Amino acid sequence: MQIDVFTLFPQWFAWFETQRHVANALARGDELRYVSYREHTPLAAGQVDDAPFGGGAGMVLRVDVVDAALRAFYGRDPVELRAERRIVALTPGGRLLDDALLSELASEPALTLLCGRYEGFDERIVEHLCSDALSIGRYVLSGGELAAMVVCDGVLRKRPGALGHVDSAVEESFSAALEGLPEYPHYTRPASYRGWPVPDVLLSGHHARVRAWRLEQARRRGGAER
Ligand code: 6GU
Repeated sequence: MQIDVFTLFPQWFAWFETQRHVANALARGDELRYVSYREHTPLAAGQVDDAPFGGGAGMVLRVDVVDAALRAFYGRDPVELRAERRIVALTPGGRLLDDALLSELASEPALTLLCGRYEGFDERIVEHLCSDALSIGRYVLSGGELAAMVVCDGVLRKRPGALGHVDSAVEESFSAALEGLPEYPHYTRPASYRGWPVPDVLLSGHHARVRAWRLEQARRRGGAER
C-alpha cells in the first residue's frame, strides 16, 4: 500500500517512521511518501495560506496551492485523480474515523492524506479536490499532521503481516469479530499481584471458554458505555 501525506511539516514524520511497527510495514513493502505544499506553491516566498474572506481569526490553506501540489506530484488534474484514488482531507468536521473506516482505507491500494493547518482548508479543496473528509474526533487540533499519523498507524497495523500474531487485528477492540464492541480486559504475568488475581478462566487453557468470557466482558463494557 502506498500512502502519500501532503503537509507543511514533512519532517514531523521522521519520528513516526522510527516506530517499530511502522518501520516493519515499510520493510514489508508498504510505502509512505511526504509532499510539502510549500515546495510546490505557485505563490511567492513559499506562501500557502491566506486570511479568510468575510474576516475572522487565523489563516486558511489556499485551494490553488493544494491544486498545484497535487498536480505537480501526480502529474495530472486532481479533479480527475480523485475519481480513482482516495484523496482524504483531514479536517475536524469530516467523517469520524472508526474501525470500519480504517478497514476500508486499509483495503485501498493507495491513499492520499491532506493535512490542513491554521483555521483549515478553503472549502473548495474538500469539495473539488478530495474524495473524502476525515476527522479523528470532535475537537480541533492545530493541524492535520497528528491525525495523519493516527490514520497511518491504524491503517498500517491492519495490513497483512503487520502484527506478530495473524489474528491480532481481526479480533481486537471495535472489530466486527467483537460485534463492534470496545474491548475486553487484558492480563499478563504475574498471575497474582498484591493480592489482585487474574480471572481463573484465562489461566484454564480452554480456548472456547476464554473466547466466550472475552465476548461476555466486551458486551458488558459495551452495554455500559452505550
Ligand atoms: Cl483530521 N484535523 C484537525 N486539524 N483537527 C482535528 C482533526 C483533524 N480531527 C479532529 N480534530
